Amino acid sequence: MKILVTGGAGYIGSHTCVKLLNEGYDIVVIDNLVNSNEKAIDRIKELSGKDFPFYAFDVCDGDRLEEVFKEHSIDCVIHFAGLKAVGESVSKPLEYYSNNLISTITLCRVMARNQVKRFIFSSSATVYKPGSPMPVNETADLGCTNPYGWTKYMCEQILRDVVHANPDWSAVLLRYFNPIGAHESGMIGEDPAGIPNNLVPYITQTALGRLEKLHVYGDDYDTHDGTGVRDYIHVQDLAKGHVDAVNYSLKHTGCEEINLGTGIGYSVLDIVKAFERVNQVPVPYVIDPRRPGDVATVYADAGKAKNLLGWQAEKNLDDMCRDSWRWQKQNPNGYHS
Ligand code: NAD
Ligand code: UFG
Repeated sequence: MKILVTGGAGYIGSHTCVKLLNEGYDIVVIDNLVNSNEKAIDRIKELSGKDFPFYAFDVCDGDRLEEVFKEHSIDCVIHFAGLKAVGESVSKPLEYYSNNLISTITLCRVMARNQVKRFIFSSSATVYKPGSPMPVNETADLGCTNPYGWTKYMCEQILRDVVHANPDWSAVLLRYFNPIGAHESGMIGEDPAGIPNNLVPYITQTALGRLEKLHVYGDDYDTHDGTGVRDYIHVQDLAKGHVDAVNYSLKHTGCEEINLGTGIGYSVLDIVKAFERVNQVPVPYVIDPRRPGDVATVYADAGKAKNLLGWQAEKNLDDMCRDSWRWQKQNPNGYHS
């Protein structure tokens, strides 16, 4: 069984590649390294003890994609490749729409020409309309507040339409909540460029002393301690969810949207306190005003993943905090360390 993984050098992709290799799948990876480092590919090989073909090019390049499909007999595609910074998408909407939509459409076209009919897509909880009742399930209303979110919303619709027109296709649209943590070895993890936008990389870099203090965006939300609540999920659990989605797509046709979350909401201060307790390291912070666009609370109804994929998150918040810190400590400058 051969899986094409686009964006396999990235944060979630690299963990999924290791899991796929450990489960006995063959993989082929394409990544243009626009937000990642080829060292991640070396580490995937080291961790799994297996070799695989890696191609550094843009998935929007249909001719090169066609060559890869001709060279390898692909059974299923996992499409992680995409731009993902919410704030940047507001200032560079065309880059986001071009990259995220054209890569998805090009992949579908090349897959169709090569009789490949299984597509696992990286979607996001950000497709849910703000204000949806929590826990949010897959039938909730959709609607986004930024171009990044709309690219996920549109790619989902494209894939629903492709499957509708081709009932022998299978597409699994995985809506991730907030991935954190790292591989237990500390060899692969999240390596954001510049100052992190997301909470946990900001915390780990603050604990390391690279950043002075965490800015907690708002303590006046209607939550148990006033800070924003999210559904944080260990990246290793997420990786396992992709293996389960591949197995599901081998046995089913049709298109399914599936939440990958734990179903548990933690506040910003819950995360800070757990991180300090588990790792015995201080995380200085200040309370700042709310970040525009943020909502008080988001957490998943993860029931559909359990029913359809037989998947549920197994790791807890302490695991997430411990593993995020191990990765950061072992790689103070990420893959540039
Ligand atoms: P990431 O940036 O670490 O990984 C994405 C990878 O895709 C990078 O290695 C990048 O170089 C590559 N890439 C981007 N555009 C490409 C293109 N046109 N051709 C080839 N390679 C390309 O991000 P991640 O956190 O691993 O996220 C993976 C996917 O999951 C993304 O689609 C992202 O939008 C989605 N997602 C992420 C989160 C999150 O919080 N991390 C949440 C929900 C959804
Ligand atoms: N936060 C801070 N300080 C920071 C960063 C974040 O207080 O420096 C707070 C935010 O206000 C929010 C929580 O921490 O309450 C989580 O924020 P993140 O930026 O880590 O994550 P978001 O929930 O905003 O968004 C993330 C991804 C999106 C994805 C979404 C899915 O960045 O791409 O999860 O739920 F769509």
